[in-house]
Amino acid sequence: MSAPTAALRPQHRAGAVVEQVVRRFGERTVLDHLDLTIGDEELLVLLGPSGCGKSTLLRLLAGLDRPDRGRVEVPARRAVVFQGDRLLPWQRVLANVTLGLRGPDAGRRAATALAEVGLAGRERAWPKQLSGGEAQRVALARALVSQPELVLLDEPFAALDAITRLRMHDLIRELRRMHHAAMLLVTHDIDEAIALADRIVVMRDGRIGGSYEVTLPPADREVSVARERLRAGLLADLGLADPHPAGHGDSSLNPPSAPTHESAG
Ligand SMILES: Nc1ncnc2c1ncn2[C@@H]1O[C@H](COP(=O)(O)OP(=O)(O)OP(=O)(O)O)[C@@H](O)[C@H]1O
Ligand SMILES: [Mg+2]
Repeated sequence: MSAPTAALRPQHRAGAVVEQVVRRFGERTVLDHLDLTIGDEELLVLLGPSGCGKSTLLRLLAGLDRPDRGRVEVPARRAVVFQGDRLLPWQRVLANVTLGLRGPDAGRRAATALAEVGLAGRERAWPKQLSGGEAQRVALARALVSQPELVLLDEPFAALDAITRLRMHDLIRELRRMHHAAMLLVTHDIDEAIALADRIVVMRDGRIGGSYEVTLPPADREVSVARERLRAGLLADLGLADPHPAGHGDSSLNPPSAPTHESAG
């Protein structure tokens, strides 16, 4: 059967499988036989120029859209966090997190999720009383409270200042220790990608181009020759010149990760 499908099938271990997916808008083919697998509990970062189709892919994985061709296999429990927090302004923080939750313990679970993101005690606040970072943490709590197997994050920290963004990175690392979910993070920020990813993929011409495993220990993700090499590789893959090349690196050093191609030909 070759009809497009968006199967809900958590039977196998991978976080998600995208196979030969095509998505067109009018004349424009945005996703062109794209293949991608997200591993069980993997944090995959998706980079790519504006308009290349990152959000389109994320929407397919979220089940908000369907492919014209190909197969999207995702677990049943998924959650999405967008750039804007999308909180309901007429609901208090706790009610924003319990939204859609069933069961008598919904309030308790939501309070636990809020505590996990550092917002214990803010349950009765209104969204307008929160800072941008706090509102985005509520959005994270809302995503995690349903214990998703796949968390889709579309530039969730793009609107935050640099320091708040670093705090959010710490929070993501902490949440990963507590929740065993696969995560797909879309970002424009190469440094954010290097800070957080198990693997970084670069989208190009409607497909996944380079794929980089990131096995660097935390300190080396901040400062190291290997980090600069990875960064330079990503910039080149994105078609951007590195204004600060790590030129002094010993060329005999092994690259930190071997670029591979997920969707050959
Ligand atoms: N519903 C739609 N109808 C028509 N065109 C669309 C639709 N959704 C997306 N597109 C087009 O598909 C292309 C990819 O859009 P998409 O939002 O996936 O890009 P993106 O990689 O997320 O970009 P950005 O980094 O700016 O968020 C764009 O050219 C966009 O105009
Ligand atoms: Mg987008």
